[in-house]
Amino acid sequence: MRSGRLHARATTFDRLLKPVHSWIWGNVERRVQKLLRFSETEIDGGRDILRAAELTSDPVLRRLYLEHAIDEFRHGLMFRQRAGSVLRELPLRSKPTFQLDWPAPGGHGLDDLQIEKESDGSLLAFLHLSEKAAASRFTIYRDVMQHDPPTRAIFAEILNDERFHMNYTLTHLVRVAPERHRRHLWRARLSRLWKGYLRLATALASAIGTLILTIQYFVVLPPFAWLAKRAARRESPGWFPVSSERNGSLRRQY
Ligand SMILES: [Fe+2]
Ligand SMILES: [Fe+2]
Repeated sequence: MRSGRLHARATTFDRLLKPVHSWIWGNVERRVQKLLRFSETEIDGGRDILRAAELTSDPVLRRLYLEHAIDEFRHGLMFRQRAGSVLRELPLRSKPTFQLDWPAPGGHGLDDLQIEKESDGSLLAFLHLSEKAAASRFTIYRDVMQHDPPTRAIFAEILNDERFHMNYTLTHLVRVAPERHRRHLWRARLSRLWKGYLRLATALASAIGTLILTIQYFVVLPPFAWLAKRAARRESPGWFPVSSERNGSLRRQY
């Protein structure tokens, strides 16, 4: 069993959002969808770390990256199996549930990372922060999962691995970049902040767009519909003769 050197605590932001997380995970259909999405993200993250293992020239990092990638694949499978078990316990009805992603993201945020362009230092800094964020969120998810002990046990087990990932990435960041490790961490922090801002801005833009289109539908369209109906009422039904000035020979289109 691995033990974390640094004990990740949930961030204040994640702790403040605990009631939202509790609401999100409280619904069993939403829980299944979240677990499936987490599974995908973990497996994708594992694939990226496997690529990092192929690219690095550092033999110690290669071994750690391989172990890390295997962990992420295993997490993905654990989430998928649990989603399957919860799904089988569900009654046969399918009710669409409202999904709220940005406050309860899963995985490690490796989705927009281009492994080929990263040095060992910058990748380790990014991984350290991502694993730290994952450990913080999984602490909260474990705590709000009182009503579902098997899912809670999965989060507790994965949390242990995330702490190990968080620790080895920092230790080796200091080893490979003793002078520049702080700079790598700050760059990774700014990059995550920017990507977080973009995600939030996209969600906000989508909500504003939906609101504006709904207002347009109920406020702008009704007068046009009324005018069209009034014009239709004024039309006499059936065929009627064309006036003589519009009834010239067909030498032109209009
Ligand atoms: Fe993981
Ligand atoms: Fe991890």
